[in-house]
Amino acid sequence: MILKCIECGKEYDPKEARYRCECGGLLEVLVDLDEVENVFDGKNITLWKYESFIPVEKRVSLNEGGTPLYRLENLQKELEMRELYVKNEGANPTGSFKDRGMTVGVSKALELGMDKVICASTGNTSASLAAYSAKAGIKSYVLIPSGKIALGKLAQAIVYGAKVVPIRGNFDDALRVVVEASKELGVYMLNSINPFRLEGQKTIAFEIFDQLGFVPDKVILPVGNAGNISAIWKGFKELYEIGFIDKLPQMIGIQAEGASPLAKAFKEGTFKPFEKPETVATAIRIGNPANWKKALKAVEESKGLLESVSDREILNAQKLLASKEGIFVEPASASSLAGLIKLRDIIEIEDDESVVLITTGHGLKDPNIILENFRLPEPIEPSLEAFKEVL
Ligand code: F0G
Repeated sequence: MILKCIECGKEYDPKEARYRCECGGLLEVLVDLDEVENVFDGKNITLWKYESFIPVEKRVSLNEGGTPLYRLENLQKELEMRELYVKNEGANPTGSFKDRGMTVGVSKALELGMDKVICASTGNTSASLAAYSAKAGIKSYVLIPSGKIALGKLAQAIVYGAKVVPIRGNFDDALRVVVEASKELGVYMLNSINPFRLEGQKTIAFEIFDQLGFVPDKVILPVGNAGNISAIWKGFKELYEIGFIDKLPQMIGIQAEGASPLAKAFKEGTFKPFEKPETVATAIRIGNPANWKKALKAVEESKGLLESVSDREILNAQKLLASKEGIFVEPASASSLAGLIKLRDIIEIEDDESVVLITTGHGLKDPNIILENFRLPEPIEPSLEAFKEVL
């Protein structure tokens, strides 16, 4: 296993805590694919089933992965599609896909002998880092944009025992401080520029193939800091390189309109950060995605695309998924369904394609958004008569 720069190709020893190349480029872990095992039999699915692909020795685990893959029978019919699925990452231990990254990232921290970890977060990363470092018995620090993280996520970070530091600024500002802190204060950074995080998250690709028994035509997911789309693409590419699969899916990334520098870059050809990102989907309220180069590469290599959706489209999709399929996801996660609906309209997705939507976080993390948009009726008298009147 080596660490390699995706820009200049310079290699580094994975035994040092390093997040970027000397040239500034993002790093990637290259695992030894000669040593991986073909365990793809559709059974007993958990993240650590794929341990031969995961480049750490230690294991800090809360039994992550093995999330359900649902066939969306009702929506599939409504959208006139042949095969539509959701991979529901909200079913992970802390309620988001971040647990896949953290089981590996915090294990790596222990291997490196670090006893303090840090991240910037729109909420889910902080909840997950706090839980895994609690399990590992090390200290965690999380920087969050003040007033802009969902209540459930904040409660999680607090109860798991992280040092929670709100900042006057957005996620991008918080990440800047965290990068500096990791250099100066000897704390291990576990944002998704840390390539070991992505080694955990790539298992979403493994599970999709393991559960379906085939590779779907398209995978659609929300994009914020752009680590996950890069990680899932890496997972599929590894399976392809060793010959376990003979086709690759198209990767489709969806951003919220008010925070869509990558969707814009895809259409216009140049990447420019959004100075003031804004969206109801606070998890992906990010203007300067750190992994933007890896994400554009994933989309280009997979012949996929990036699209944006409005807040209204996101909230409509959230309601649709819950009311038609019984799956409650947070707003950011619903952007994958919102994106599918939009792309069906502009015929980027055909009737006969198989599509997997990734929903990244549980709906209960952000209940306020539902309650703000719904008024409960006045209470009634406790009698059958009164009940009949409101039916
Ligand atoms: N969906 C949810 C629910 C998220 O929390 C995030 C990212 C994403 C999608 C986007 O994933 O960054 O890999 O493109 N949340 C981070 C956080 C930024 O701090 O929790 P990405």
